[in-house]
Amino acid sequence: MADILDGRDPGAIARAAIRLRAGGLVAFPTETVYGLGANALDARAVANVYAVKNRPRFDPLIVHVADAAAVADYATGIDGRARRLMERFWPGPLTLVLPKRPAIPDIVTAGLDTVAVRQPAHPVARALLRSVQFPIAAPSANPFGYVSPTTAAHVQDTLGHALDEIVDGGPCSVGVESSVLALDGPRAMLLRPGGVPLEQLESVIGEIDIRASSGDSARPDPRSPGTLPSHYAPRVPLILLRPGEAVPRPAGGDRVGLLTLAPRADAPGYAVRGHLSRTGDLTEAAANLFAVLRRLDTQNLQRVFVEPVPETGLGRAIMDRLRRAAARV
Ligand code: TXA
Ligand code: MG
Repeated sequence: MADILDGRDPGAIARAAIRLRAGGLVAFPTETVYGLGANALDARAVANVYAVKNRPRFDPLIVHVADAAAVADYATGIDGRARRLMERFWPGPLTLVLPKRPAIPDIVTAGLDTVAVRQPAHPVARALLRSVQFPIAAPSANPFGYVSPTTAAHVQDTLGHALDEIVDGGPCSVGVESSVLALDGPRAMLLRPGGVPLEQLESVIGEIDIRASSGDSARPDPRSPGTLPSHYAPRVPLILLRPGEAVPRPAGGDRVGLLTLAPRADAPGYAVRGHLSRTGDLTEAAANLFAVLRRLDTQNLQRVFVEPVPETGLGRAIMDRLRRAAARV
């Protein structure tokens, strides 16, 4: 099992940095989810990231940088839109896809001619990036297709056996992954809704296209190969209700769960009821989403009915994750 190091301890950052410099794998906290990090300039270390996650090689990784100035070393095409977005949302949960420079090995970008870059806001991630002085390639620190981790314990539970260190920075405050925005063409395109809501992005650069879901798991969308229909999925089957659809009453004897945005008492017959926020707040719901899905997955349920949330603000990212967690392919 990996050691869990306390991210508040400067000695822990130093130890994690030594591991990364030596080509090792270190899980570390970001404000969105925990990342599984490797030196982005070390193709062998990055190959181990794919292997440990069991991630297909067609699904490129995000390159995490210490500051916006570093982006010019790894990407071109940093135009006015990119600059304004970085200024407004970095450090933070926004990833920009830009034309790639050769410094980034092809394995990081799965052979694409673009690279995804982000400056994370979590103080532990920032300390680690400052300490190593190279960019860190990091997908979410979960086995491919499973629910993303928002605590160090989540990482230990599923990938602890394969990692060198896990740096603990407490529970992630945002709780859903970064928004991924492609800026490699004249029209900005949202490839994945995430921690910075679409409305906020559009308030800075105007109208943004939204990637239509391909709905085809066998043939991923070449513009965003990682956004497969079935993803973020717990083992227990999830059934996503339609907006306004009445909550069904489970058949007697069935062990069924119900997940709602806010607590609700008017749903008899459920073995387990979970909610995303005490008050129905979407920011709190996003922060709780993955931990609640993991908890439901340990309750020996036959299935879980899930109430949809409004698709505004962070609700768009939450619904994207719920749809894909509910997809069976
Ligand atoms: O919040 C986050 O983004 C977290 C933390 C650790 O930073 N990372 C994360 O990484 O969610 P991952 O690998 O689970 O998701 C990265 C997404 C995938 O959907 C991938 O296909 C997409 O970003 N992506 C990466 N590089 C890309 C590129 N060059 N073009 C298009 N999509 C890209
Ligand atoms: Mg992921």
